[in-house]
Amino acid sequence: MSSESLLDLAPKVRNFLDLGDAGGDAIAAMLNDAQDRKAARKGWPKGRADADKPLEGHVLAMIFEKSSTRTRVSFDIAMRQLGGTTLIMDTATSQLGRGETIADTARVLSRMVDTIMIRTDDHAKAQELAHYAHVPVINGLTDRSHPCQIVADLLTVIEHGKALPGLELAWLGDGNNVLHSILEAAGLMKFNVRVGTPAGYEPDAEFVEMARTGGAQVTLTHDASTAAQGADVIVTDTWISMGQDHAEAKLAAMEPYRVDEALMATAKPDAKFLHCLPAHVGDEVSDGVFEGPQSVVFDEAENRIHAQKSILLWALGHLGS
Ligand code: CP
Ligand code: NVA
Repeated sequence: MSSESLLDLAPKVRNFLDLGDAGGDAIAAMLNDAQDRKAARKGWPKGRADADKPLEGHVLAMIFEKSSTRTRVSFDIAMRQLGGTTLIMDTATSQLGRGETIADTARVLSRMVDTIMIRTDDHAKAQELAHYAHVPVINGLTDRSHPCQIVADLLTVIEHGKALPGLELAWLGDGNNVLHSILEAAGLMKFNVRVGTPAGYEPDAEFVEMARTGGAQVTLTHDASTAAQGADVIVTDTWISMGQDHAEAKLAAMEPYRVDEALMATAKPDAKFLHCLPAHVGDEVSDGVFEGPQSVVFDEAENRIHAQKSILLWALGHLGS
């Protein structure tokens, strides 16, 4: 048999660098599985493993080149609940910080752990890690995208009684990595996105095109109320992402896009407010909205655990075809 056909027979590593790596059917399977697992362990201590322990004996290595609370803790707890374990690396205390290459790190970790999550500034580093690794690589946030966050966001939207097909989601503020993954999800799961950003802070055209090619309607506007009016869900994020300059000009441009009570009132009466956190209350969202009855941000944060579990199960071949 030629080496090429042998390669065809080799099981394909399931990386999760962006939502499209899994596709719409697998994301739907993840969302179902996450709801089932969440319901099955209601009231249990958070560190207790699920009854089936599907990832018993498996180890996840997490590489952090940027700060994290939710992603770090939710992946750790997710692995414990699936019966597996984790280890955390950062640049400063690993040889990555002394110049060991991503390629060598990928090949070494592939001999030692079953899957790798990376949070890094440069999406190309996550791609390079996936290229050289022999185990699944999961994107825990890059400058380009944040796919794990969006699985949790979709789960939260569904839990709050909203179906994805035809959903009207409004994004206010900076056209950043989180919005990119929302746009990718829109094309895969068939919901519509109204994007309200200042001029110069729109999302990358590639993601808008991806959403439209998938059949989503995407509205790009510089008027916050045009974006928010009649929406089912309003989403925002920090105006200054990790690694970006704290530019006064950018903060000034963002002022009209703050999600406050007046803007929220233009959405549907049962609209929900989402924010991936950490939030800067008083900047991108008013205290009244953040703490108000339409805010589901802490459900969203908890759902990071349930979403990570389904992502890990998919990546390791336990979910989806
Ligand atoms: N939303 C999110 O990714 O949070 P962390 O930066 O705390 O991981
Ligand atoms: N856009 C934010 C998300 C933080 C979870 C950032 O990249 O800093």
